[in-house]
Amino acid sequence: IMSLVEKAKKAAAYKAVDDNFPPNAKYIGIGSGSTVVYVAERIGQLPNKDSFICIPTGFQSKQLIIDNGLTLGTIEQFPDLDIAFDGADEVDPKLSLIKGGGACLFQEKLVAASAKKFIVVADYRKESNVLGKQWTQGVPIEIVPNSYVKVTKDLKQLGAKTITLRQGGKAKAGPVITDNNNFLIDADFGEIEDPADLHNKIKSLVGVVETGLFIGMASASYFGEEAGGV
Ligand code: A5P
Repeated sequence: IMSLVEKAKKAAAYKAVDDNFPPNAKYIGIGSGSTVVYVAERIGQLPNKDSFICIPTGFQSKQLIIDNGLTLGTIEQFPDLDIAFDGADEVDPKLSLIKGGGACLFQEKLVAASAKKFIVVADYRKESNVLGKQWTQGVPIEIVPNSYVKVTKDLKQLGAKTITLRQGGKAKAGPVITDNNNFLIDADFGEIEDPADLHNKIKSLVGVVETGLFIGMASASYFGEEAGGV
């Protein structure tokens, strides 16, 4: 039996694809996470699924494309995407996002930045009036591994309250290694008043590859509701 959250994710994903998939699209970005599973499923049901190429945002995303019988391509081959779909950890009213809960933020941002339209799919828990309110584990930041001590000090200077080098947990003794062989820091800044300013400050630190703050990128968001609607 599908939980309410799962139903909400599926409803949002299906509606986002049905409303936005361009009929003659050639290049489609497919994001990461548990909501995008339903995006890939819906796109896999299209009768013309052999006529376009899907670009993944990481390992899990690549598997989703393959498992749904879609055609896989790389962002190096196809840097101009018609549209991209992805999940988010938190979404504010201006469609600024926190992403990277699944450690895929760099390639997610690369794909989103390469797309004419970027559509966000999420369940009701992700909608927020201020970033940092719902997603309290901190802003995910991808860094070059040997910079983590320096970046940690610099993030403290920028006002981060807690800074964690993300660990693999039960599955791995030691830090998470991203799809790009980097480390991830989660830096909690509390409620973020000016996400663009914070992104710029973090991004300018030596060692930082990318931040999980996605500003001015999303064109639309679809939230699945507990009651079943979108
Ligand atoms: C991956 O790095 C994240 O940005 C995901 O897109 C985000 O965590 C959404 O995942 P869910 O759909 O599983 O919540």
